[in-house]
Amino acid sequence: MDEVRNVLTPVVDQLLKPFGQVAETELQSVTAIHERYPGIAKFRDQLGDTPLVEVPSTPGGATILAKCEWGNPAGSVKDRVAYALVCEAIRRHGDRPAEDLRLVEYSGGNLGLALSYLCAEAGIPLRLVVASFTSQSVLDTLQSRGTAVDIAPAEEGFLGTIRQAMRIADGDGGWQFLFQHVNAANLIMHQATTGTEIVKQLDGRKPHTWVAAIGTGGTLIGVLNMLRTVNPAVRAVGVTPAESPYGHGGAPAAPQGLCGTGGLGYGLKQPFVKAYENDVAAHQQVSYPEALEGAAEFFSLTGTRIGTSASANWLVARKIAAQLPPDEHVVTMFADAGNPEQWGAIGK
Ligand SMILES: Cc1ncc(COP(=O)(O)O)c(C=O)c1O
Repeated sequence: MDEVRNVLTPVVDQLLKPFGQVAETELQSVTAIHERYPGIAKFRDQLGDTPLVEVPSTPGGATILAKCEWGNPAGSVKDRVAYALVCEAIRRHGDRPAEDLRLVEYSGGNLGLALSYLCAEAGIPLRLVVASFTSQSVLDTLQSRGTAVDIAPAEEGFLGTIRQAMRIADGDGGWQFLFQHVNAANLIMHQATTGTEIVKQLDGRKPHTWVAAIGTGGTLIGVLNMLRTVNPAVRAVGVTPAESPYGHGGAPAAPQGLCGTGGLGYGLKQPFVKAYENDVAAHQQVSYPEALEGAAEFFSLTGTRIGTSASANWLVARKIAAQLPPDEHVVTMFADAGNPEQWGAIGK
């Protein structure tokens, strides 16, 4: 997997550049993009401003507040990233004819669903590389939205999907690679929207700890950068599946795991997290069966369906909150409401 490793490593250095500079350019040309693509403007109107909700905690412990993201247009936090990546791609495309813009990315999960929704609305051709274990319900949805799907060989795992997308982009078909794991638009969007909304919703309350599951690490690090503006000492805790922890040296992510999260395998670390490694206080692991149980427990306590990454975050947040006094706040992310496979496994 040297091909992927060689691309991921140098990007870490670039990410250490100050955020503010990039954030300014991010904001400049959005108006022009919205004028040119009304479907993107409509998507942006419906995006974000999701609720920050108090969720069950350990009695006597800190309050847990969860940012609930299933109200976004395609149903998850990744809608924010899809918007940012597509706007960035349009910017990179520059003055070339709009009809030549074609996008390629890898994901069989929420980002794939978000991109397929957004690109269909915007009329931009999209090609997605997915892993061979992607569920039929996701494949059907992608197909119904006109997304071209490539299936990466099972034995190459998740890195194989990245490699195949890279190769498509390197070919002569003019496909622009979005590359969510290294594209700063991912981090900036979380800082500028998810993190900014949370700070506003905290309304003067100080976050003690920020708990977020790691896929690319965009959520964990982007929001952390914003939470620091209200509490420079806020602790960041990353959550990954026990089957595929952050930075693990084994084979790439197992097919079963917390949806949208997990280590890359082969000792590779997600560049966004690696770049800010000293700012992440701890990494916690939750197994898929534990996360399923957590989702079932959360459902019986609240009547609300949450996905497995959300339930993993909740379980970790609850453990942390139990150690803190009641006037502290643990903030976490509920990225989606789960999928039919998960709820089938739980039997709800
Ligand atoms: C359900 C879910 N949770 C968590 C994540 C991880 O988010 P990030 O890529 O920002 O680390 C994802 C990413 O796709 C996801 O789909």
